[in-house]
Amino acid sequence: MQNYTRLNGTPITEEDLQQRLLGLKKIVVHHRRFQELYQVIHDSHLLKNGAAILGDTGAGKSTLFKTYEERYARTKKIKILGGHKVECDIVPILRVELDSNSRPANVASKLLQQLGDPLYDRGTEKQLTARVKNHIKDAEVELLIIDEIQHLIDTETQRVIRKAADWLKQLLNDINIPIIFGGIKEDAKRIFASNRQLDERFPYKPSFVGFNYSTVDQIKEFRVFLKSMDKELPLAERSHLYDPLLAKKIFYATLGIPRTLYHLLHHSLISALRSGKDKLEESDLEYGFSLLSFETRPKVVNPFHGKVFDLQVALENEKPSKS
Ligand SMILES: Nc1ncnc2c1ncn2[C@@H]1O[C@H](COP(=O)(O)OP(=O)(O)O)[C@@H](O)[C@H]1O
Ligand SMILES: [Mg+2]
Repeated sequence: MQNYTRLNGTPITEEDLQQRLLGLKKIVVHHRRFQELYQVIHDSHLLKNGAAILGDTGAGKSTLFKTYEERYARTKKIKILGGHKVECDIVPILRVELDSNSRPANVASKLLQQLGDPLYDRGTEKQLTARVKNHIKDAEVELLIIDEIQHLIDTETQRVIRKAADWLKQLLNDINIPIIFGGIKEDAKRIFASNRQLDERFPYKPSFVGFNYSTVDQIKEFRVFLKSMDKELPLAERSHLYDPLLAKKIFYATLGIPRTLYHLLHHSLISALRSGKDKLEESDLEYGFSLLSFETRPKVVNPFHGKVFDLQVALENEKPSKS
């Protein structure tokens, strides 16, 4: 945890503000589900079996994968090639995020790029594929993480890009190292449904969805997460986001999705720091919330009004009316 200087009412300088926003961006809380899924990746890595971690957008899948990748730093080794000494990378964890409308050649290119191949976009699909296989061996890759696999669905036709799914299945068969898939649940399900052999490689598909707020345990889990966030916020004082009433409001505002929480805190922090405050107040969250756009929640209301708040009623009010 970093210490931040007190502002005592003096508006923050732009430079310091940028630093602190960077601090916010870097926060990664190892909450319960995060740790469980971290263990799933670790087990796959060691026991050499695959897993597909699927869930809601913004739940924290990519953050988890990046955290795992960072734990196993890349190193260099010297290799003799045609009588010359060449330096090449050892990449224990190879992580890629697929781009939309990925075809086999795009996936291969992406893998080569992450492996540090300067000619990653040169060659036919066949040549790229051969290079991927060699390079994965050379770089001593132990685990492959392929994130955003929903991009194997064509954005125009909404159809699964079968060639790319088949290509991946074939690669898995050929390279024989454990693979973690990550992506949005509904789309990923369709990809697996359209390719039985690929599906059979991933008998275990744990989900990574946002927080819930119904049972005592779920409420505790979300509040513990907020407490950890609060501790790491780039402010001199704690804001007590985990206070029962405030936590309930934050749950309503974010529906338990960490990405939405990040956006809320980002805007709220700017406002608080520019006013020279050393902690967030509910009025800062009210302002931060007002800057968010909620395309999929047309009836959402700003819960940060300083008064009591009934979560059940608020969620009920958002449902489409039955008339
Ligand atoms: N464990 C976490 N701790 C703190 N913030 C998180 C955590 N997981 C996700 N976030 C926030 O949510 C944002 C979106 O997370 P991301 O991993 O990209 O979600 P996904 O890949 O599931 O769509 C992150 O940029 C970060 O701001
Ligand atoms: Mg992601």
